[in-house]
Amino acid sequence: MPIRLDERLARIASLVDYGTVADVGCDHGKLGYYLIGTDRASAVIATDISEGSLKKARELARDNGVSEIMSTRLGDGLSPVADREADTVVIAGLGGDVISEILAGAAADGKRFSHFVLSPNTHPEKVRRELIRQKYRIVCDDAVECGGKRYTVLKAEEGEQTLDELRMLFGAFYDESDSFEKVAAQELEFKKNILSRHYDAELEKRINLLESALSNARKRRNK
Ligand SMILES: C[S@@+](CC[C@H](N)C(=O)[O-])C[C@H]1O[C@@H](n2cnc3c(N)ncnc32)[C@H](O)[C@@H]1O
Repeated sequence: MPIRLDERLARIASLVDYGTVADVGCDHGKLGYYLIGTDRASAVIATDISEGSLKKARELARDNGVSEIMSTRLGDGLSPVADREADTVVIAGLGGDVISEILAGAAADGKRFSHFVLSPNTHPEKVRRELIRQKYRIVCDDAVECGGKRYTVLKAEEGEQTLDELRMLFGAFYDESDSFEKVAAQELEFKKNILSRHYDAELEKRINLLESALSNARKRRNK
């Protein structure tokens, strides 16, 4: 059965290019099945904390005759995957809090993986901080529009990297992004509008950070 992915999952799939892939929180299992069908992965370990979700992935694999190379495992985070068992770990569609906790849990268990492709629904800065803390280097940090929402998509590999606070918050390469200026200017206008009616110290701090990032991006463009 041919499978079509939405823009978010298609972007995630495009960042995977070889070997065994662990899809943590696989739910329907479509990503893993697509990766096998397009030769982007030679094997997939599809995991989920919910038996109900995992059942959908298992049935997709079985009904399409790929159960031998697309295995399913029940468990929390990376607990069902051994150290270096996967070449790439994908974790998508979960909040940045949960993804960073999964990464921290794996590190506490002494597990490392050569690549991660991560797409947090929220708090991407928590995921960036955890990757850098564990000595992974972010090599791709994009935003993809899908169904009227913007999703962060990150790829990281083993290696050291230093990111300043603006890069932690807005993306490792925010000042090189085509879309950052437009999106940041919109957020700034929206937040300034709220601040003008109701003072909030955290909001004011975010506005100052956004202004600094926007100014850096404009300077770089005008170089
Ligand atoms: C919104 S779905 C995302 C599915 C798919 N990854 C995607 O991006 O389309 C989230 C899935 O993650 C699973 N999940 C939530 N917390 C998890 C955890 N700690 N470990 C493994 N799976 C988890 C849920 O059961 C659910 O199937």
